[in-house]
Amino acid sequence: MGSVDVWILVLSVVSAMANAKSPKASTPPCNSQGIPGIQGPPGSPGSPGVPGMPGITGPPGPPGRRGDINECPSSSKSAFAVKLSDPFPVPFHPIVFKDILHNLQNDFNLTTGMFTCRNAGVYHFGFDIELFQHPVKLGLMKNGIQVLEKEARAKYSYKHVSETAILQLMIEDKVWLESKLDTAETKKGLIQSVFFGYLLYENCTT
Ligand SMILES: *[C@@H]1O[C@H](CO)[C@@H](O)[C@H](O)[C@H]1NC(C)=O
Repeated sequence: MGSVDVWILVLSVVSAMANAKSPKASTPPCNSQGIPGIQGPPGSPGSPGVPGMPGITGPPGPPGRRGDINECPSSSKSAFAVKLSDPFPVPFHPIVFKDILHNLQNDFNLTTGMFTCRNAGVYHFGFDIELFQHPVKLGLMKNGIQVLEKEARAKYSYKHVSETAILQLMIEDKVWLESKLDTAETKKGLIQSVFFGYLLYENCTT
């Protein structure tokens, strides 16, 4: 055996030993983990949670600016009350009252029996009649149009008839009272009639 052969033998023995070891090292251990996979896509959003409690009430705001005041000095006055102690004259015409109870502004004309509006506004009118064995049918008229009608019959006794109305009037509007019955029927015992009206409040023109 030459020296070269000895070296080959030694090397092959070493190589064989190394080969005997290597199969053990190449087998992975049973519970070892692989490298982590790549991250998956994000999940869909969850359902909304329950609403929170309402917050506390904030402090009140500052007071607003003072509004514009439409000054409406209602210095205008208008009031009348007239009386008649006779039976009604011609029907379907303004009743001409004979006695003045109040007519300071002269807005009620005793000659015509008509009230003429001098201050546009809201007015209160009314009449009050005492009857005795007598029928009555009265119309409150505004510019020739009947606003309301009141009928009553006092066959064998006294009767009291009254009515009021609130009317919006413009300047020069005329209001009066008319009998709606034939004179023949009203000849008997009418005792007393009062017709009145006054300005409640003036129209505010701005
Ligand atoms: C009343 O009416 C009559 C007839 O229209 C008129 O002549 C008279 O001047 C009026 N009176 C008043 C106070 O307005």
